[in-house]
Amino acid sequence: MLPETDHASEYDSIDYFTDPSLVPDPYPYFDHLRSKCPVLPTSNYGVVAVTGHEEASVVYKDAGLYSSCIAVGGPFPPLPFTPEGADISEQIEAHRSQLPMSEHMVTMDPPQHSRARSLLNRLLTPKRLKENEEFMWRLADDQLDEIIGSQTGTVKCEFLAAYAKPFSLLVIADLLGVPVEDHEEFRTMLGAPRPGATVGSLEGETLDHNPLEWLENKFCAYLEDRRANPRDDILTGLATARYPEGDTPEIIDVVKSATFLFAAGQETTTKLLSASMRLLAERPDIVERLRSDRSRIPNFVEEMLRMESPVKSAFRLVKKDTTLGDVDLKAGTVVMVNPGAINRDPRRFDDPHEFDFERHNVREHLAFGRGAHSCPGGPLARVEGRVSVERILDRMLDIHLDEDKHGPEGNRNFNYEPTFILRGLTEINIAFTPKSIDAPSV
Ligand code: HEM
Repeated sequence: MLPETDHASEYDSIDYFTDPSLVPDPYPYFDHLRSKCPVLPTSNYGVVAVTGHEEASVVYKDAGLYSSCIAVGGPFPPLPFTPEGADISEQIEAHRSQLPMSEHMVTMDPPQHSRARSLLNRLLTPKRLKENEEFMWRLADDQLDEIIGSQTGTVKCEFLAAYAKPFSLLVIADLLGVPVEDHEEFRTMLGAPRPGATVGSLEGETLDHNPLEWLENKFCAYLEDRRANPRDDILTGLATARYPEGDTPEIIDVVKSATFLFAAGQETTTKLLSASMRLLAERPDIVERLRSDRSRIPNFVEEMLRMESPVKSAFRLVKKDTTLGDVDLKAGTVVMVNPGAINRDPRRFDDPHEFDFERHNVREHLAFGRGAHSCPGGPLARVEGRVSVERILDRMLDIHLDEDKHGPEGNRNFNYEPTFILRGLTEINIAFTPKSIDAPSV
């Protein structure tokens, strides 16, 4: 890697949104932006990049000044209106339905946002999370059984397909109370098929199915059934949930809140698990430290979230003229907050590029955002990470990279998904020796 200064002029003109060279390792670019200013107007589509921890917290926490209406796509597509004046709140409301994903809570602002989010309350109770954790322990073993089968020598697998994707998918299915007999169908239709299964091969479905449409139809059917025939189950709780004001939501609004969990929670957690696997396969010293004291695992997960934040960029639209840091922002400015950058801000984290799960402020990262939109799945994702690492350590010895796929030490190759929104490996191929099963320490 060249010293940062050698890249400076290149970085000033590079297009963060489309340039593939920033995908494998975006961190030197983020450092460059922050070193110029933690709130930096860039030459990319007029976007202002926020790479400082403190400044990002201000943006996240002030939903009155910073609208989430463009949270996912940022400058794409361009706004369907030309911002006018010092306050564009009314323009945003007039055009909201033309903005992408406007039906999902992640793009909503108060008060609609709190109503949509309240529908999740019945899912995220301590009791439900505990039951969901019990499911995770069983699921982790099922996935590892699927990988290991009856093999006793070295086992190889591509960890995303074999573990991370089906695991993060089925955890959400369980959280939502999807009946166990439908789990197989969810795997097949939502891109995490059992080995040998063909995606879209289920009766009546075609290969070109639209997963989101399929999911919404499925949940409409579940919830209509539960409203007509209430039972003692989680889907009934969801179907009969009311808004805080006491009114009953339309089925479709509950469906949107429920199905959005798959969109928000599946890819992100897959990325956390695969980044963790890469580290475990490359750092036997860390594996040893975790094996010798399992109570270190939660902090390992936190440090993983800090170092390899799965959400790389989130966006806000400035509603009213304001100042952030020392920078004036006009209403209508697109602000890009980069968790991958703010979590390596040296003003907050000493030696920010070092993986150190014993750092004193290991939980101060903002990988789950902050404020009104902070990730409601954060507690779940943390447990998913902890349970997975526990069972991986229990059932795998001598974990290492499959060199046929990733090359020899000193000349490794990894592919990351070419997106400006998320940070994650496309695959991680590992090899290990199976260890005889110990019961999970639930
Ligand atoms: C490692 C895993 C995860 C990461 C890094 C992550 C990160 C994030 C971040 C940064 C946001 C805020 C976006 C913004 O402010 O614009 C968010 C929102 C959200 N996340 Fe997660 N997430 C993860 C897992 C999950 C899981 C497992 C679920 C559900 C079961 C979930 C559900 C959601 C939902 C529904 C929102 C929208 C919240 C709102 O707009 O109020 N996430 N997530």
